[in-house]
Amino acid sequence: MLYGVFSDVHSNMEALEIVLSFFQKQGVEAFICGGDLVGYGPQPEQCLRKIRALKNLSVVCGNHDLAVIERMDPNWFNSCARAAVFWTRERLTPQSRRFLESLPGKIEHKEFSLVHGTPRKPPEEYLLSAAQFRENVSYVQTWPLFVGHSHIPLCFKLSGEKGEKVDMLFLEDGEGVKIPCAGFRAAPIDFNPGSVGQPRDHDPRASCALFDSKKRTFRIVRLDYDISSVQAKIRETELPEYLALRLAFGQ
Ligand SMILES: [Fe+2]
Repeated sequence: MLYGVFSDVHSNMEALEIVLSFFQKQGVEAFICGGDLVGYGPQPEQCLRKIRALKNLSVVCGNHDLAVIERMDPNWFNSCARAAVFWTRERLTPQSRRFLESLPGKIEHKEFSLVHGTPRKPPEEYLLSAAQFRENVSYVQTWPLFVGHSHIPLCFKLSGEKGEKVDMLFLEDGEGVKIPCAGFRAAPIDFNPGSVGQPRDHDPRASCALFDSKKRTFRIVRLDYDISSVQAKIRETELPEYLALRLAFGQ
């Protein structure tokens, strides 16, 4: 099965459309989405409609999704993120709100696992260190594990003869990783596909990935989109100016 993997859309419709059209051209058969569908960007309702319409979609909720539906306290967020949460709450249809309310925190699929942050603290913890990856291994049943949240394309995997080491790989455009096996099953390995709508690795292009469960490969893809159009839409709203500026810098 060829999966299109994406995360952290953050209400950025221009970037989402470019990513979904790329997936279509590649013949993607199913979708894996790591959450944070809304927050920050100017088109939450449009993005949710687009995502809801995808066939064969596995999707979990992110911390911004939870804050928008009042299941997480936005006072934990920085001021720009918090402002976007309150702004987004007022712009969702009842159907879109119900869709966000229906999202699980964790998915154990027969070919992968999926959470927004980490398996032990699904919507909150950022998976950014080798030590954290090792601590989370026992919480996962099926590898590979896909996560979002950090907005950085990243891979952690156990290595060494007895899995005594952890490799941490920052993944660039076009970079592929072979998914290792342990017996008949995949060995512990985790991928973050980066962010569709607000990349933070200093590359402003939308980030997504292809996961081929038969060939056991994962590949990051970066795509140009019309950043200035999104910035103009943000500036037509009361959303903070910084949310427009940061898109151009990939931060
Ligand atoms: Fe996010």
